Amino acid sequence: MMRIRLGVIPGLVAALALTAPAQAAGDAEAGAGKVATCVACHGQGGVSTNPEYPSLAGQVPGYVGKQLHAFKSGKRQNPVMSPMAVPLSEEDIADIDAYYAAQEAPQRFIGEEQVEAARRGERIYRGGYRPFSVAACMGCHGPGGHGIPPHYPRLSGQQAAYLENQLLAFKSGEREHDIMNPIAFKLSREQIRDIALYVSALE
Ligand code: HEC
Ligand code: HEC
Repeated sequence: MMRIRLGVIPGLVAALALTAPAQAAGDAEAGAGKVATCVACHGQGGVSTNPEYPSLAGQVPGYVGKQLHAFKSGKRQNPVMSPMAVPLSEEDIADIDAYYAAQEAPQRFIGEEQVEAARRGERIYRGGYRPFSVAACMGCHGPGGHGIPPHYPRLSGQQAAYLENQLLAFKSGEREHDIMNPIAFKLSREQIRDIALYVSALE
């Protein structure tokens, strides 16, 4: 399979670099000692090798912590993940958040036969979908898909299948979020698959 990287328009990256990165409140070194149980699913250093499980490496500081709180409180529900968050203390959550934010996100590649679909996804990621007034994804997730701390998650380097699943969960309302629900609701399953493929392999 040909390995293709999807580049970014250089000017846009420079613009995003101006937004100051938020500092994670936790202790990344302490966090490294608290992720032994997470490795089984999220991979070594938070680089997932299973399409069902999200990578956590290189996630924007604050986002992993926010999701752990959501799983712990029941606001976000998943039969596999929810019980993992329950025993974590506030300090554990802050340290784990800092640890994953400090790891390098993986680079994903797509096959040559997937380029056409990824280009369709690119148009929506960068330009939105006007017929249904869907905003460009990059406005919040960044031109390179690197996210904006602490609220807007990194999407690039993430498992495409995971991104697709989450967008479908937002679409159906199974995962609740005031911004993402209406966006995903207006996208077709095909558009969701195309965008997930594109942004996953974005550099
Ligand atoms: C048995 C497998 C398993 C283990 C062990 C596990 N997780 Fe998860 N995790 C999942 C699954 C599955 C999801 C996706 C849930 C969904 O679809 O909403 C997830 C999602 C997450 C998310 C949300 C990511 C995102 O992009 O929104 C975070 C954060 C997370 N896990 C952190 C952890 C931490 C920290 C640990 C260790 C304390 C851990 N997980 C242990 C399976 C696991
Ligand atoms: C106005 C800002 C905004 C726009 C525009 C936006 N998003 Fe999001 N997105 C968010 C926020 C905030 C979250 C975090 C949700 C949470 O905290 O649970 C999110 C979460 C996500 C997630 C879940 C990531 C994960 O790790 O679980 C995916 C996938 C996603 N967005 C894809 C998209 C796509 C594709 C588009 C364009 C069609 C888009 N978003 C447009 C704000 C936005």
